[in-house]
Amino acid sequence: EKAGFDHFMLKEIYEQPKAYRDTMMGRISEDGRKVVLKEIGMTLEQIQGIRKIQIVACGTAFHAGLVGKTVIESLARIPVETDVASEYRYRSPIITPDTLVIVVSQSGETADTLAALREAKRNGARVMAITNVVGSSVAREADDVIITQAGPEIAVASTKAYTSQLIAFYLLGLYLADKLETRDEKWIADVLTAMNQLPEQVESILDQAVVLKQVADSISKHSNLFFIGRGMDFAVAQEGSLKLKEISYIHSEAYAAGELKHGTLALIEDGIPVIALITQEELYEKTLSNIKEVKARGAHVLAVINAGHEGEVSKSVDEMFAIPRTLPLLAPALSVVPLQLIAYYASLALGHDVDKPRNLAKSVTVE
Ligand code: F6R
Repeated sequence: EKAGFDHFMLKEIYEQPKAYRDTMMGRISEDGRKVVLKEIGMTLEQIQGIRKIQIVACGTAFHAGLVGKTVIESLARIPVETDVASEYRYRSPIITPDTLVIVVSQSGETADTLAALREAKRNGARVMAITNVVGSSVAREADDVIITQAGPEIAVASTKAYTSQLIAFYLLGLYLADKLETRDEKWIADVLTAMNQLPEQVESILDQAVVLKQVADSISKHSNLFFIGRGMDFAVAQEGSLKLKEISYIHSEAYAAGELKHGTLALIEDGIPVIALITQEELYEKTLSNIKEVKARGAHVLAVINAGHEGEVSKSVDEMFAIPRTLPLLAPALSVVPLQLIAYYASLALGHDVDKPRNLAKSVTVE
């Protein structure tokens, strides 16, 4: 059932190109220019009436929500808040009938996420679910449901479910942008063209897995490291850090690159690995200067960069991993893949149970 792979996690990492295609399938118009989401029952008037969106989820699904926030705010210009589900209900969130609450859950059974959904409905908000399981509690109780077509995910560490959630957010963002006329048709069509290239681009990253195995082998000798990035790179850094922690048990922290000098830089010492994501063109120079800060203090830096930037970046880092060129907005769907592989190979190098990490369950049905 592992289809020749040593672990479910590795199999699921390699299933991502298919998961991307399946999640997009049937949701793009024949001419490739529009997103069609028949599963959304909101009228145009209801969509135009959304004043605020709250994205609520746990763990990896929450990290997908962090990317989702940027996607929706930049495409549809609706303000988005993100909350970890176990915190949401206890902060007296301001939920009004013109709030759209989006819950994200692979299993659709996470207790805190389900409780957040119920709280939102009690307060009169419309609830949309992004979930991988048809017929799950979350899918049954939400008003609108976008099913990610990742297929069953067995490994405790989520990989293809996360990236399928990103695809769902891209589709939703484009759908809202079209309805609200915040982006023109040509622009939307261009993003869809770029999205269609993602599966092949992921394949080309997977072809370079052996490079990442070497990176992971050297990381596995350390007990501490940092992931840094700005904007959506910071969101992906958080997911990369969680993935590494949960299966390799190596401590790491994800930091907004510009925030380092406000305290954390004190922890940078000779030889500490720093994985820097630098895929967002607008923030390129800024992140590069943060990389130089850690490098000057002895960090060993691996930079995840856009192909074509090798020349400029090579002087400031120790190692580079290039992802294929895409739109900045879509980069998370590529840049997370090397981080998943690093986590996998680090866990493997340390001899841990990759698919069943200690203390963790696949579906968390207690609050
Ligand atoms: C980490 C992981 C967890 C889940 C979280 C939410 O790899 O899998 O952090 O993402 O427990 O689970 P779902 O998405 O089922 O609500």
